[in-house]
Amino acid sequence: MTENNELRHIAIIMDGNGRWASKQGLPRSLGHKKGAEVVKTIARAAADKGIQYLTLYAFSTENWQRSKEEVSYLMTLLRQYLKGDLQELKENKVRIRFIGERYMLDADIRQMMADLEQETSAYDKMTLCIALSYGSRQEIISAVKKTAELIKSGNISLEDIDINLFSDMLYTKDIPDPDLLIRTSGEKRISNYLLWQSAYSELAFTDVLWPDFTPEHLQKIIDDFKTRERRYGKV
Ligand code: FPP
Repeated sequence: MTENNELRHIAIIMDGNGRWASKQGLPRSLGHKKGAEVVKTIARAAADKGIQYLTLYAFSTENWQRSKEEVSYLMTLLRQYLKGDLQELKENKVRIRFIGERYMLDADIRQMMADLEQETSAYDKMTLCIALSYGSRQEIISAVKKTAELIKSGNISLEDIDINLFSDMLYTKDIPDPDLLIRTSGEKRISNYLLWQSAYSELAFTDVLWPDFTPEHLQKIIDDFKTRERRYGKV
């Protein structure tokens, strides 16, 4: 294995909950419920494999446009997750972070998110980063505004803007770029996820629907990643 194939950070688009449920004649909500259970299994498996960062797309800014019932169910699930499974991961010394447009979430959810981040800030087993109300274009616009503010206030000059400075304006500040980006369910799109950060990520698409995704599927994708040659535009 070359140094290039170091796998520090895996990002996942967890897709296919709805189709998993429809296939068995179940309501979409049960697909999300099963999907949330898989989040826990995969987070544990990733930590055991020594992955340092796992970033999961739990809710996109575009997902707010789903039916009121579905959004409300996802928020109920999220509340349960923040109170239950994430507390368990906390006990396993997993650091928890959230990225996304927090102001769109209810105040009690924002408070639980802030508490979890604060309580786990010194942990280093693995960082589990959950993208909630997240959109990459929105994140980039917000970074542009922060950068412009710094110029306006005279803290930096135009010449100071470079890749490192701009990366620090994103929600993912201090998180290395994903080495591997996985999307489940057969769709082959990035869907407004980590557009800046995935510039050189290796992409992996699997037909497996998220509720059926197992640590064995993850291992197969990791094995394939290890065989890839990463050149970052060089020869
Ligand atoms: C995509 O399936 C999945 C989502 C929009 C939400 C992801 C949420 C979870 C895995 C569970 C909740 C997680 C937490 C942390 C509470 P889809 O509904 O787009 O599936 P479809 O494309 O088959 O309709």
